[in-house]
Amino acid sequence: MQHLITTSDFSKEEILELFEDAKIFKDLQSNLFLKGKLIVTLFFENSTRTRSAFEIAAKRLGAEVVSLDVGTSSRSKGETIFDTVANINAMKPDAIIIRHSECGLPGSLTEFVDCPIINAGDGKHAHPTQALLDLFTIIEHFDGETEGKKVAIVGDVRTSRVAGSNRKLLPRFGMEVIFVAPDCFKHESNDHRQVDFIDEIIDEVDVVMSLRTQLERHNEIYFESINEYAKDYCITNETFGERDILLLHPGPVNRNVDISDEMLKDPRSKVLQQVSNGVAVRMAILKKLLG
Ligand code: NCD
Repeated sequence: MQHLITTSDFSKEEILELFEDAKIFKDLQSNLFLKGKLIVTLFFENSTRTRSAFEIAAKRLGAEVVSLDVGTSSRSKGETIFDTVANINAMKPDAIIIRHSECGLPGSLTEFVDCPIINAGDGKHAHPTQALLDLFTIIEHFDGETEGKKVAIVGDVRTSRVAGSNRKLLPRFGMEVIFVAPDCFKHESNDHRQVDFIDEIIDEVDVVMSLRTQLERHNEIYFESINEYAKDYCITNETFGERDILLLHPGPVNRNVDISDEMLKDPRSKVLQQVSNGVAVRMAILKKLLG
């Protein structure tokens, strides 16, 4: 049985196979690959895209979905997360999709269950399905030619799990990841080039991935006002000029802080394309793990 905790759970070949399925699922909206399967979602952190994309993906494959309302579950009566998951597992679901604020939690649950666990985001650690859909969108845009491409990841790279997963995944497909962040958001590892401002690298990059500032994960206030941050890190028309660069963002976008209104409408922005691809990629992931 295979789980998806980090992107390293899949080999490069498995990922490419997954993307072949995702391409088909982009057109084949509804089918019965997972008819009779039951998937439980447990979201202990807020979500719009990831949760709905998983639920839609499951339903398009003919599976049933039960979403535990964690606000009204027995967690508030003192049950541990391990017991909650063991109890859900006793009801024999075919997969459990979980999002939680604790780094490493989805991975540590695998020994308590008899079905695949899919990590839908664990704290600042990993968000494998987001990174896979980002990679799929990049491969689609460049017609498979990713070797040597440079990807600037801009903003709160230190606390973003999207940056955490992409920094490991994209280099496996020949891409260089460059972090662009103020000192307070710089990543602790020295595995990547890190620069202070986007101007320093804008002429050499092929992709810009903007990130939301993860205020809910900060223990201190780094900027007096978010506008102070936006002055240097918001992606605007001026940042891109006429350059042919692919613009990505995992959402939720803080308009005019992460990306300007104008750039969100620009054809170089593929933010909504990422959302559509997110359903197809998650359909392929569910088929692979449960099919
Ligand atoms: C991200 C997340 O939750 O990690 N969103 C997402 O899943 N698409 C990014 C974020 O919250 O900033």
